[in-house]
Amino acid sequence: MDDLAALIETRFGLPPRLPQPHHPTETEATMLRHRICRRYTDEPIDEATLERLLAATLSTPAKSDLQQVAIIVVDDPARRERIAELIPDMPWIRSAARFLLFCGDGRRIRRLSGHHGVPFGNDHLDAVLNAASDAAMHLSSCVWAAEAMGLGTCPISVVRNHLDEITEICELPPRVFPLAGLCLGHRADRGHQVLRLPMSVTVHRDRYDDGDALAEVDAYDRRRDAVFSIPADKQLHADRFGVAPFYGWSLDKARQTSRTERADLADYLLRRGFRFHPEG
Ligand SMILES: Cc1cc2nc3c(=O)[nH]c(=O)nc-3n(C[C@H](O)[C@H](O)[C@H](O)COP(=O)(O)O)c2cc1C
Repeated sequence: MDDLAALIETRFGLPPRLPQPHHPTETEATMLRHRICRRYTDEPIDEATLERLLAATLSTPAKSDLQQVAIIVVDDPARRERIAELIPDMPWIRSAARFLLFCGDGRRIRRLSGHHGVPFGNDHLDAVLNAASDAAMHLSSCVWAAEAMGLGTCPISVVRNHLDEITEICELPPRVFPLAGLCLGHRADRGHQVLRLPMSVTVHRDRYDDGDALAEVDAYDRRRDAVFSIPADKQLHADRFGVAPFYGWSLDKARQTSRTERADLADYLLRRGFRFHPEG
């Protein structure tokens, strides 16, 4: 099924609003077919393939050409095992052929400022966002490049639940912070495609308008449930909220976000040399 309209319909569970008579480009088809990979074969990814993948990844646009990304290729089995042990409920961190850590790098530009004897003036939250968006953009590019090459991928933001340990394991210096890991490998299964929210919810014309969003999300919950229903024993925090007769995506996400996660993030960034407010 590689006509564009069919790929879009599979992605959203809804046909496109307008006729889409064209064939998708290879890039579009890769993106529309995306599905996360959490089961990998033993087949390795060789160094030449990794270099090719990194070359494509590092072609990503970067904020102001500052190029504030650092990618740690975690090859050392002992370091990799320590990361896997921190997150035992995600065994794909261990079984993927490769594990990369995408970091925001606010260190390099400050070293260059110092090297040239020029003060670094943008020392506030914007510097964190700039480095984080570079890291996120590169992570995303790596996903698409890998999937275009037939590999499977799974980003791992749970590394941020263990900021100090990851910092120590990968010897991250001050002002270099982990955004997410990335598992890369050869797929052991096809996985399943996760329906996306409709564009009526995520795309706005000229002005933000979420007047119909709750009804649209309710319909999305039901479309998604018809493709893949979350079983009763997988309902989150049933001890606090009970077992719901209908448990769709929105209730799952509401329950998932009912607990504070990574409360130490701001303190970590401050300890690692970032500031949130400009001086003076
Ligand atoms: C930044 C980012 C962080 C993620 N972190 C994790 C993670 O820690 N563990 C995991 O298993 N999946 C993780 N995922 C995968 C998402 O859960 C997955 O993309 C989402 O469920 C939608 O599924 P799909 O990508 O197949 O459409 C992450 C994805 C992104 C983009």
